[in-house]
Amino acid sequence: MKTRIIDIESLDEAGEKELQAVAALIKNGETVVFPTETVYGLGANAFDPEAVKKIFVAKGRPNDNPLIVHISEIAQVEPLVAEIPKKAIKLMEVFWPGPLTLIMKKSARIPDEVSAGLDTVGIRFPDHPIARAFIKMSGCPIAAPSANRSGRPSPTQGKHVLEDLDGRVAAIILSADTEIGLESTVIDMTVEPPVVLRPGDVTVAELREVLGEVAVSSNVTKNVVPEKVSSPGMKYTHYSPKGEMVVVKGTKKEISEKINNAVARYRGKPMTVGILASDETMGCYHEGFIISLGSQKDPREMAKNLFSRLRTFDELGVERIFAEDIPLNNETLALINRLYKAAGYTFI
Ligand code: TXA
Ligand code: MG
Repeated sequence: MKTRIIDIESLDEAGEKELQAVAALIKNGETVVFPTETVYGLGANAFDPEAVKKIFVAKGRPNDNPLIVHISEIAQVEPLVAEIPKKAIKLMEVFWPGPLTLIMKKSARIPDEVSAGLDTVGIRFPDHPIARAFIKMSGCPIAAPSANRSGRPSPTQGKHVLEDLDGRVAAIILSADTEIGLESTVIDMTVEPPVVLRPGDVTVAELREVLGEVAVSSNVTKNVVPEKVSSPGMKYTHYSPKGEMVVVKGTKKEISEKINNAVARYRGKPMTVGILASDETMGCYHEGFIISLGSQKDPREMAKNLFSRLRTFDELGVERIFAEDIPLNNETLALINRLYKAAGYTFI
């Protein structure tokens, strides 16, 4: 498939015209990649089951994972759901447009291809001028997972999308690097108290400020709370770099000692080793590909960089990656969740 590629930095007259042309492809049942403030999304008309099927083909996997439906104004929610819980309205008022996906009971208008057979649907109103304009021009809600090939880190830069999906979708809208760099917070509003299923830039503390009680899925906490680290053998294929990655735990001093000892064992061997460090700790290492996630003082910068750094290790042909652990708090939960997943929950 020949992919139409457009590059839009701002929504001037020329940009709008190009956007109109690719929005027409959505109306025709085609797939289009578009930027959002979290990661790039691979979109199709959420009301068109055949179009939605093309998303799974382009991503390269039989996917029984439900898709998030993207809208460009709050009024679009009503026909998509059976009912809007009061608490969901509160969250929409505070966090939309933004990196928050609300799971609600779906209406009959949502095809099974979107909800993967569940009776619920995830809805998000993204806060990105191009995403908003694009959805509006398309004239329909857009179902979109992250625009990566199955098992690859989510794309935060146009070049990641081209690597993964050029030739596999009808069009790609390129723009600046995505601001947040991790996928949206997902919260299930069909249960009481609501449960965070996936942590993201909207933090658990922020959600509690608005709603009071909010639970966090044990799928998130069990792997992050230090005493309850699950077995390394567990199979997780999300966000994996090609190299084998392990998270290194301990005090600052222990971490750098463990990494230096581990790296030394590869000396003279044909194995390419990488270290995922921070601005503050890069100087502790002297061998292998040493890459900083950013400053420890700025967890949002580190979050923004994570997926692109994992892809950089791939480009460098790194086969073994040692990633420094990151102290857990409200602001780092999402970052740690993705880091541990990328490492398949293996730790030393
Ligand atoms: O930031 C984002 O959310 C990005 C951009 C493109 O908006 N999208 C994204 O989509 O990350 P995806 O498909 O890669 O991840 C969607 C997540 C999955 O973990 C899926 O299981 C969950 O949301 N999800 C979607 N609908 C759901 C539902 N009805 N019930 C439970 N979980 C749901
Ligand atoms: Mg994804």
